[in-house]
Amino acid sequence: MSLENSQIAQFFKNQTIFITGGTGFLGKLLIEKLLRTCWDLKKIYVLMRSKSGKTPQQRFDELFNFPCFDLIRGKKLRDKVFLISGDCKRPLLGLSDQDLDLLKRETTCFFHVAANVKFDISFKEASYNVSATRDVVNLTKQMSNLKVFIYVSTAYSNCINSHIAEEFYKPPMDTNTFLNFINAVDDDVLQNITHPLLGKWPNTYVYSKCITENLIKNSNINVPVAIIRPSIIMNTIEEPIKGWIDNTYGLIGITFGACVGVVRSFYAGKNNKLNLVPADHVCNCVLAATWKAAITQSESPVIYNCVGEPKSCEDCTKLINWFYWEFPSEKYLWYKSFKIIENKFWNHVYFSLHLLPAYFIDLIFFFFGKSARIVQRYTRINRVLEMSSYFATRDWTFDEDNVISLWKGMSDEDKKIFKFNVKITDWYAYFRNCALGKRLYLLNDPIDTVPKGQKKLKVLFVLHYAVIILLCYFMFATLMFMFGF
Ligand SMILES: NC(=O)c1ccc[n+]([C@@H]2O[C@H](COP(=O)([O-])OP(=O)(O)OC[C@H]3O[C@@H](n4cnc5c(N)ncnc54)[C@H](OP(=O)(O)O)[C@@H]3O)[C@@H](O)[C@H]2O)c1
Repeated sequence: MSLENSQIAQFFKNQTIFITGGTGFLGKLLIEKLLRTCWDLKKIYVLMRSKSGKTPQQRFDELFNFPCFDLIRGKKLRDKVFLISGDCKRPLLGLSDQDLDLLKRETTCFFHVAANVKFDISFKEASYNVSATRDVVNLTKQMSNLKVFIYVSTAYSNCINSHIAEEFYKPPMDTNTFLNFINAVDDDVLQNITHPLLGKWPNTYVYSKCITENLIKNSNINVPVAIIRPSIIMNTIEEPIKGWIDNTYGLIGITFGACVGVVRSFYAGKNNKLNLVPADHVCNCVLAATWKAAITQSESPVIYNCVGEPKSCEDCTKLINWFYWEFPSEKYLWYKSFKIIENKFWNHVYFSLHLLPAYFIDLIFFFFGKSARIVQRYTRINRVLEMSSYFATRDWTFDEDNVISLWKGMSDEDKKIFKFNVKITDWYAYFRNCALGKRLYLLNDPIDTVPKGQKKLKVLFVLHYAVIILLCYFMFATLMFMFGF
């Protein structure tokens, strides 16, 4: 592979990129890939907020400690990356006047990746996805050297339709009406009217993403715009390391929760398909779309449905089970007894049964004057599971013409360096790496503890079945007692 012959790498020569969401799963991969393959770029400015008691500067100092940066560790490339303190929840992203001037002068490529991606956020929280994008769009108009604007949306931004073309759809509300409404209504009232306001929409996150897409459509941004719509972003398939994963939202969170033993059932259709796309493919699609936008100078935004391949829920479950015993972790909390349940009512009953031990633990803690709040945590898990079920009990078809044409227009060299429109030939190997990745990067459990994990798993296995046998015995004894035997 020769980077000198890469048209995409050549395009990024001397470019200054401003990225929001650079601390996230996809954002980190974008920064890494840019530094590794487009090292002639000039600078990357990364927006960062304070979080979990850490200042933006502290988070910036730690950014390159993530394993996804292993391939470029020790190289001077990180000197090209600069911190911009800010927060999407604040007007004008909370940027200082100095940073605003800097970004307006220097930015040539703008990647707006940041979003609150949780399914169960309030309308108020989701509205920041919209208001931040409104401010981002206004900022692009003041950037004198801007060449391309990229927005990362989601393939489900219009999920109330079963077929998703690479085009805009009618939003549930226009941007100003939505933002004015959210700002005018009291938070408690907003909470109470969430369901009627959502209407056919499954959650506030996709609702906000649909409004945001339309905000971009109507904004007359004066540079080429590309909107990338990934489906369910999975662990990396190839680079920078196989199996890298960094967040536990949506379906990734469910499979992770199943493995550690806290999620035991999920209402889904065994034959319903999940569109899975490796994170590195999404990252490469974003970079290729940036190059294409710059060379074609399209006047209207180009949408790319970057949706990977469909895999049935049943196949996914089988593949996850396959590797359960291979890389167990000491950090597992309970033995996995995960089931897909196709009936909503029975899933509810099954889940409620699992709440009983949570009540029991909370009660024990209460007697000792402490609070465990396991029931509260389970209730939240249940809410997220219910919202995720929407995506596992339906099928969607997606147009991918723009993605295919983007791929076809790339040179052979670029197809090797920025791979995305390729079928996964070995799902077994991919899921094996995903299982390993969950253990290494989500549980932070190194590979040399597998023997300890295997021992713990055996103990959990015995405990799990002992509890089931005991419960059955008590139920049987109670019935015998009730019927006088
Ligand atoms: N993951 C998926 O399956 C998936 C699927 C389709 C589309 N997408 C889209 O892909 C994009 C990236 O998602 P991801 O998976 O990388 O999610 P992620 O890991 O949660 O990253 C989200 C990023 O947004 C930033 N962000 C959120 N709120 C912010 C705020 N108020 N101020 C500044 N930054 C803020 C986060 O910063 P902090 O680190 O400070 O929180 C983080 O960098 C999103 O636009 C999402 O809608 C994701």
